[in-house]
Amino acid sequence: MKNSRTKENITIESYNKVAGGYADYYYHRNVMQRELDYFIDLLPHKSRVLDLGCGPGHDANYLVRKGICVVGIDLSCGMIAIAKRRVQSADFYVMDIKDGLSGLGGKFGGIWACSSLLHIERQYLPEVIRELYRVLKKGGIIYISLKHGKGEGYKTENRPYGKVIRYFTYYNTAEIAGLLENQNFKIKKLNKRGRWISIFANKVY
Ligand SMILES: C[S@@+](CC[C@H](N)C(=O)[O-])C[C@H]1O[C@@H](n2cnc3c(N)ncnc32)[C@H](O)[C@@H]1O
Repeated sequence: MKNSRTKENITIESYNKVAGGYADYYYHRNVMQRELDYFIDLLPHKSRVLDLGCGPGHDANYLVRKGICVVGIDLSCGMIAIAKRRVQSADFYVMDIKDGLSGLGGKFGGIWACSSLLHIERQYLPEVIRELYRVLKKGGIIYISLKHGKGEGYKTENRPYGKVIRYFTYYNTAEIAGLLENQNFKIKKLNKRGRWISIFANKVY
């Protein structure tokens, strides 16, 4: 997967630059509370959760406050530095989602992948999903949110937390559902709201 490093670096460089502003923006708004509460309800008892592409740790913070043990990974060292400072009872690592997750010590009862897999080039997603399936315990739950649309490429935007240049991969609901089902995930709930697709799926066996 090494040939995609340049594309990734531009995206991650943007996240490093805006990490402080991104944290201020999202720590003050719990935009994912409804989905997080649903996710918590579906988690097997005493599960450890992997926050995949955790950003500055605001969702990890919510989960920790609910008594859940969280490990967060993100390729942006700026984001991880903030997460470590703000959520001291979770573990955070600078890691590339595409490099495999075997370094994280065992399996998870839940994987929270909120708006992070959308930065992975389409060609790599099947392999990443296979790895997510492997590190999820039987009976575990995964949440994924992605942007709806066609194709992939760079987008420059002025967001409330700063200017960002990011590589996005867009999906339709059938394509992402098919990718998950091909890896044996069972879709529990799939929503398309505006430009966003969100999915809850189980590892049944
Ligand atoms: C839109 S932010 C989402 C952050 C957080 N999950 C949230 O919902 O606010 C995307 C995050 O994915 C991270 N990311 C992008 N590509 C990654 C990769 N290949 N490996 C690990 N993290 C990655 C970025 O650094 C960024 O923090």
